[in-house]
Amino acid sequence: MRLAALLLFFATVFAISRVDGYIEQDVDCLSWHLAVETNNVRNWKLVPEECEQYVGHYMLGKQYRKDFKIVANNTIEYAKSLTLVGDGKDIWIFDIDKTTLSNLPYYARSDAIWLILGHYHTMTQSLTSGLWRELCHQYRGLCVYQTLLPLGFKIVFLTGTAERFKYIRIFNLKAAGYHTWEKLILKEEADQGTSALVYKSKKRTELVDSGCRILGNLGDQWSDILGDNSGNRTFKVPDPMYYIG
Ligand SMILES: *[C@@H]1O[C@H](CO)[C@@H](O)[C@H](O)[C@H]1NC(C)=O
Ligand SMILES: *[C@@H]1O[C@H](CO)[C@@H](O)[C@H](O)[C@H]1NC(C)=O
Repeated sequence: MRLAALLLFFATVFAISRVDGYIEQDVDCLSWHLAVETNNVRNWKLVPEECEQYVGHYMLGKQYRKDFKIVANNTIEYAKSLTLVGDGKDIWIFDIDKTTLSNLPYYARSDAIWLILGHYHTMTQSLTSGLWRELCHQYRGLCVYQTLLPLGFKIVFLTGTAERFKYIRIFNLKAAGYHTWEKLILKEEADQGTSALVYKSKKRTELVDSGCRILGNLGDQWSDILGDNSGNRTFKVPDPMYYIG
């Protein structure tokens, strides 16, 4: 008797939660993805349940890399078209997570050491043995970086990662092949609690106030590329996995 009542209770709760739209029906994952990349859907916390598989296939399959590649190509094309002043103030901003360091397949966390020791070896070898094309194919962010440096851009990494993870970030950047930069800006204690949008705007404004020209800006979040002094041109890397406002 008790059990039957309990089952009825749960059945009812389940039915109501469906009616309330708790389970999103008829989500077209491609449409949802397009909407998040274009910033039409904002402040989403989770990938809709129906789209978990889609996002998994997208990220781990070929499409993500293809989509990243076209961003990287256009970034490089634009960068090459510029004539730099060459006074050390021609800046390019890179976000770190999902832009500079791929979280795939390692899902690097800001507080975790990027487990790429095996990779590191292969990559440094690739660089010297001329397997450039393959490297660029696999690591688009690195490819952009390696192209910008000899053009004379000064690289600034701007990340929402807390200052206390600085040395882990440096370790990961170097291990992945990013050997030099002008500035690595991490979120200080005083900035904890500010949104990514406000924090990144503030840091970019400080750069501009110090005389830097932000010519380009590459990130995976809209909060990387919106706001004050976002740069002469911004580029967005696809990211249907999370939203940082
Ligand atoms: C990117 O650029 C490379 C080399 O210039 C070219 O071979 C490739 O087709 C381009 N890919 C895309 C998606 O634009
Ligand atoms: C970048 O933008 C600034 C401000 O709009 C402009 O004065 C400058 O000419 C631009 N630089 C380039 C290289 O396009």
